[in-house]
Amino acid sequence: MHQYIRQFAEYVDKTVTAKGWVANMRDSKTNIFIVLRDGTGFAQAVVSLDVVGEEQFEIAKRLTQESAVALKGKVVADERQIGGYELQVESLEVYHVSEEYPISNKEHGVRFLADKRHLWLRSKRQWAIMQVRNAIIIAIHDFFQSKGFIQMDSPIFTGNAVEGTTTLFGTDFFGETAYLAQSGQLYGEAMAMAHGAIYTFGPTFRAEKSDTPRHLAEFWMIEPEMAFYDLDMNMDLIEEFVKSVVRQVVDRCRPQLEMLDRDVDKLMKIDQEFVRLSYDDAIAILKGEKEINGRNAITIQEEDLASAKKAIEEKTAEIAEREAAIKGGVKKGVRKFNETRILQLRKEIANHEEQLRNIPKWIESARNFVHGEDFGNSDETVLTKVFDAPVFVYNWPAPIKAFYMKEVEGDPNYVKGVDLLAPDGHGEIVGGSERENSLAILERKIKEHDLPMEAFEWYLDLRRFGSVPHAGFGLGLERLVRWICDIHHLRETIPFPRRYGRLFP
Ligand code: 4AD
Ligand code: MG
Repeated sequence: MHQYIRQFAEYVDKTVTAKGWVANMRDSKTNIFIVLRDGTGFAQAVVSLDVVGEEQFEIAKRLTQESAVALKGKVVADERQIGGYELQVESLEVYHVSEEYPISNKEHGVRFLADKRHLWLRSKRQWAIMQVRNAIIIAIHDFFQSKGFIQMDSPIFTGNAVEGTTTLFGTDFFGETAYLAQSGQLYGEAMAMAHGAIYTFGPTFRAEKSDTPRHLAEFWMIEPEMAFYDLDMNMDLIEEFVKSVVRQVVDRCRPQLEMLDRDVDKLMKIDQEFVRLSYDDAIAILKGEKEINGRNAITIQEEDLASAKKAIEEKTAEIAEREAAIKGGVKKGVRKFNETRILQLRKEIANHEEQLRNIPKWIESARNFVHGEDFGNSDETVLTKVFDAPVFVYNWPAPIKAFYMKEVEGDPNYVKGVDLLAPDGHGEIVGGSERENSLAILERKIKEHDLPMEAFEWYLDLRRFGSVPHAGFGLGLERLVRWICDIHHLRETIPFPRRYGRLFP
């Protein structure tokens, strides 16, 4: 039996056998320092010549990055070390000496890393993200199970277009055309009429030909559906749900979030009431016509633009200073330090330059937003910058939302849809609505949306036999991982992303 790094706290000053891979290694004449990773954590292991003897020391010396080993030794508490413990190796066993590993500690392009996704998953950052993803999944089940919701599995082959016909993946289903499910919602509605409150948790598919940081072709969605719920109750549940998941994940994954440099205090701003804006109000804020607590969406962008300009000037000056400082003969360490810093500054400048290119376009788009349109990515960014917690936008123009959303009483131009937008430019993480429960209106909507009535006959039965007010929502798991970890691109939020242009590995 061997021990996991996660358990080291229970083995201080005791001997353990740890099995894992060499994440990193450096050696001197008498000591070899190995950063071992075993899937449960990372720990430094020291192989000393005078402890293990010459033969084992030579074996250790020939190890390479990603070699697989068993290290037997004593666990000592050392808070300067990653994880807080160090393993003082007494003997080692080698499972495999790795070939030269393609992913080194130097910078790699994202394309290269995406091609090597099967290996990239081992790196510290990717490891931390997947650990958080797991904690999120557990927190989601905990929340719904504790509320007595029934988990249901909805079909993946379907005959129905739920979220419009433009993003369907068609497949051949014994000679019939079947689509990969864009959503399990319609089946969830049927199941809610049998169980009261249910949730799906499964893969969904959208043929999104857009290469954006927010879109995958295959993603995981959680779709609760509740009988006898209206739009307000739906929003209450979404808010309680999101808060509960974030709190539990922060509780369980603080070390991983710290590895990701996630500002946890900022994340914990969820500890306040989420603002609920109607679509019309949201537009007024987006255009800078309406302020929230003295904060103006357009002014915030202008300020960001100005500070990006200033940062570029300051950082350019610092680069010049540092370049001048290392021009003459300086110590190797000093040169290295300055060069690293210059590289970092160049990267930051590139980011600021991107802001300089983007922000004017965002302002332009926000100012000229046309009532009745859907928010673009930049509009969501501009709007959410006004808030430090997620915000709801409800009562949307009917033409841009799905056929099943309930019309606002007395104003059929609007439907009772709701999106939850995450702060810091993360944008939509939840989309939901109260559902249309009138058979006549639903039939009209299916026609208006140019959908095949016969494919929806079974769904219309739900309005023929005991139709009740009901509501639900869909949360994109990867969007939630992205926001909680505060990472830029969805490609890092799922083990093997499927997106436009990416089917391998
Ligand atoms: O807003 P959407 O399209 O809503 C539905 O599918 C409804 N049937 C949900 C419901 O009411 N039961 O998608 C819901 C969520 C979005 O808010 C977003 O988080 C995520 O799914 N999502 C995507 N995530 C990754 N890649 C994509 N292409 C996504 N499209 C939607
Ligand atoms: Mg949506």
